[in-house]
Amino acid sequence: METKNQTNDVGPGRSNLLHVAIIMDGNGRWARKRDRPRLYGHRAGLEAVRHLVSCAPKHGIKHLTLFAFSTENWRRPRPEVEGLFALLQEYVKKETAKLVEQGVRVRFLGERKGLPDTAKKIVDRCEHGTAQGSRLNLNIALNYGGRSEILHAVRKVAAKVEKGMLKAAEIKATDFESQLFTRGLPDPDLLIRTSGENRLSNFLLWQLAYTELHFTPVLWPDFKEEHLVAALSDFRQRERRFGAIANKG
Ligand code: IPE
Ligand code: IPE
Ligand code: MG
Repeated sequence: METKNQTNDVGPGRSNLLHVAIIMDGNGRWARKRDRPRLYGHRAGLEAVRHLVSCAPKHGIKHLTLFAFSTENWRRPRPEVEGLFALLQEYVKKETAKLVEQGVRVRFLGERKGLPDTAKKIVDRCEHGTAQGSRLNLNIALNYGGRSEILHAVRKVAAKVEKGMLKAAEIKATDFESQLFTRGLPDPDLLIRTSGENRLSNFLLWQLAYTELHFTPVLWPDFKEEHLVAALSDFRQRERRFGAIANKG
């Protein structure tokens, strides 16, 4: 009987360079604790991003995927949304040269169509300007939602079936994955969520199937290298089995 990995759609990654995904949460509460407006917290959150990007490669991280703005975050008050996009603009303007210097390649994951025109331009400029980076892949999920990503991919695959390019019974995980925003990226090895919330909030629903999860009460603006080190050391204690049995013992 053939028992070898019959589904072949999840399994160990090909290298020991890590893909870490982060749900950066808690900016609002961080600001509230200081009696300041929420945008003050988002600005402090941006500092935490700068810090993390600069120290990630030395901890073996090759892909860093940050949840910056979800498809549900449009429900927030307009001034907050506008403030978040203004911060993004500022980050890209101020930081692109440094990102290039650091060997960082930036890609944005999410629905471009729904972005304000200025944000679209910034996103394109940043991707283009950092395209040669090879030390760290920084993926910023912006206007990203896991369910809508899956639906979008389903529609693309269904269109191929409709055109007779693909048989429904022969659809493979790779046909589907090549339509996701994360095409070409390995699945995350580790997901970190800050601020004590233990949920995924519509982040990378397909890609996180076998990812190790690390939840920390630290609010995002307080997240420093030491917290990354703690998360990585927690991750290294885990035994990833991918449905098989333990290697040792
Ligand atoms: C995360 O912090 C940043 C974004 C979602 C843009 P929050 O703004 O969600 O902060 P809390 O959860 O209200 O504290
Ligand atoms: C998730 O955080 C989205 C980002 C970090 C960008 P939220 O603060 O929006 O999530 P919920 O509403 O607490 O689930
Ligand atoms: Mg939140």
